[in-house]
Amino acid sequence: MNHPSIKSYFDSSICQAEIDSMFSKGLSYAGHQLMVPDKYAYQVLPYQHDRYVLFNQGEHFELISNVCLHRQAKLLEGSGRARNIVCKVHCWGYDHLGTLKGAPQFKPQPQGQLDKTPLNAWNGLLFKGRTPNFDLAEHGLDTYINFDEYFYAGCESAQYNFNWKTFVEIYLENYHVSSMHPGLRHYVTPDELEWAFGDDFSVQKVGLGKNLQKPTTPYYREFQDALVKRFGDALPKYGAIWCFIYPNIMIEWYPDVLVISTIFPKGPRQCVNHVEFYYPSALYQASPDYFASEKQAYMETAAEDEQACLLLEQGREALYLSAEEAHGPIEGFLEAGVSHFYAFLAKQS
Ligand code: FES
Ligand SMILES: [Fe+2]
Repeated sequence: MNHPSIKSYFDSSICQAEIDSMFSKGLSYAGHQLMVPDKYAYQVLPYQHDRYVLFNQGEHFELISNVCLHRQAKLLEGSGRARNIVCKVHCWGYDHLGTLKGAPQFKPQPQGQLDKTPLNAWNGLLFKGRTPNFDLAEHGLDTYINFDEYFYAGCESAQYNFNWKTFVEIYLENYHVSSMHPGLRHYVTPDELEWAFGDDFSVQKVGLGKNLQKPTTPYYREFQDALVKRFGDALPKYGAIWCFIYPNIMIEWYPDVLVISTIFPKGPRQCVNHVEFYYPSALYQASPDYFASEKQAYMETAAEDEQACLLLEQGREALYLSAEEAHGPIEGFLEAGVSHFYAFLAKQS
């Protein structure tokens, strides 16, 4: 087994090499079509400090630079619809394709074009460059990872004080669920787990808990009561489906909820996770509380995962500072995703 070295969790040059090999050259998620549902809709993307804007151009989607060509002001904020982009500082004007159309007082008028990146679609997700080699239907996921009738409900960004690989390791195993997640461990059946693997991805399908009435945490109580009210005796087979696409993209299914998250390193000791929520429009209009209860449970689990990651980080930091190397065995079933991730890392270096 190729474990990443302890040093790789703390060393800036190794972190930069990971960014160059995996993030700059690997699969690169840019956003979802639902973020910009109509022609001229735009969404400033949080990755790279709002550097790019996702634009719906009618027939296609593209990223446009969000930095003015004159004195490099930031152009757009948030989301909306725009046929023209006008810089607030000196009113340089661009059309929706990013072509410079006007620069007050300049004679002759300067020519210019904001940088653009074309995007390729895969099941509604938009990628720079190639799309994942991952056939959802082949893995029985096409009815689950299906954004029809869904809308983009917003993004939450979480900053973490640990290495990005630690987040991925915790994401890719079910071994910690019974010990670290007092709520999630009753909502799902962690040992009723189905794995699938491909070069680009792994999938965990986790069975729904057998008894949703059992005592649990207050947020999971609220969420599970809402689920029982919604589904009655026809409860879904799975409680959660977690897909991880290398190097950093997670697509998650929960009953009536889809989530896309992307984790980015910010140096070796920090990372940021951008978590996008997608809900079915009609059901959300009818029962917003149902989705609020799901989100509270989701956030409770995310906070517990952060604790798990910090514990791993602290132990490894102690080893790093005393220049020690240590690795334990990987449980073949519950931690299968971790071995697959380590093999992916080893292939990149
Ligand atoms: S910085 Fe944008 S017009 Fe001057
Ligand atoms: Fe977890």
